[in-house]
Amino acid sequence: MKVSIIGGGGRVGSDAAFALQCAGIVSEIHLLDANEKMAEGEALDLLHGCSIIGDQKIYAGGYDRAADADIVCITAGLRRKPDESRLDLINRNVSLFKQVLESLKGAGLKKDAIIFVVSNPVDILTRLAIETLKWEPARCIGLGTVLDTARFRSLIALETGLPASQIKALIIGEHGDSMVPVWSTAEAGGIPLTKLPNFNAVQQNKVFERTKKSGAECISLKGGAGRAVALSIAEVIHPIVLNQPKVLPVSSQLTGEYGVKGTCTSVPTLVGKGGVLKRFEIELWPREASGFQASCKALDATWGQIK
Ligand code: LAC
Repeated sequence: MKVSIIGGGGRVGSDAAFALQCAGIVSEIHLLDANEKMAEGEALDLLHGCSIIGDQKIYAGGYDRAADADIVCITAGLRRKPDESRLDLINRNVSLFKQVLESLKGAGLKKDAIIFVVSNPVDILTRLAIETLKWEPARCIGLGTVLDTARFRSLIALETGLPASQIKALIIGEHGDSMVPVWSTAEAGGIPLTKLPNFNAVQQNKVFERTKKSGAECISLKGGAGRAVALSIAEVIHPIVLNQPKVLPVSSQLTGEYGVKGTCTSVPTLVGKGGVLKRFEIELWPREASGFQASCKALDATWGQIK
């Protein structure tokens, strides 16, 4: 399976390529970037490691090379400033994203390719990709809160001392300020996290608030997140490539679930070879349910501004 990474010369795109190389699951990685030299450099650097890690084809190239990609992963975009919300990015990023989509259209993608949006604001741009490319909604997914969920679990582990890989806690809604933590189903090895001694509501809230600001924290410390984003990207690509479905909170276009229609946002979703295989409506605490509704309203309001 071939993955084309649009924005492959940037931090997120090149880190994603490295994560995919280390996992050795996809057979071909194509890096494309407006900065062609950076894409070439990253591709060459990765290629040098092929003799150690595996026989993947890794190269840089233009939009014509995306024509036979099975997955087109779009990471291109402008970075948030530390004090800028992801939704503020929209004015700066939408026109750039439209150019990327037009170029992909021009290249003539495979009909059954999966469009995987990572650029921000991811929920809005996922919806824009569906509309602009007239793509089957099941085959167009956004990274959504897969990244926030990963951060949330790791930070809960840090706070509680429990193993990160055993923490099962989910974030749904917007990948942005209105994201919603689902404490009602949060557990670790069968232990409900809300019943843990020494992890009270104040500590829970502290962890969630840090999770929500993690992107900004990384921007101010190192210019932007890359590694965990890349692992999250690989986490979504692998079940598609392996045809081993996984439930992940990717962003996709809701068709009436939770009473929401048309909005692209994150809910627990079975992701596999065809992209979105199924979305799950889970029972939420009233404050989680109202938080999710408010999050969808915020996304719809933004969508209305860019139409
Ligand atoms: C972040 C960017 C990728 O959360 O949205 O780090």
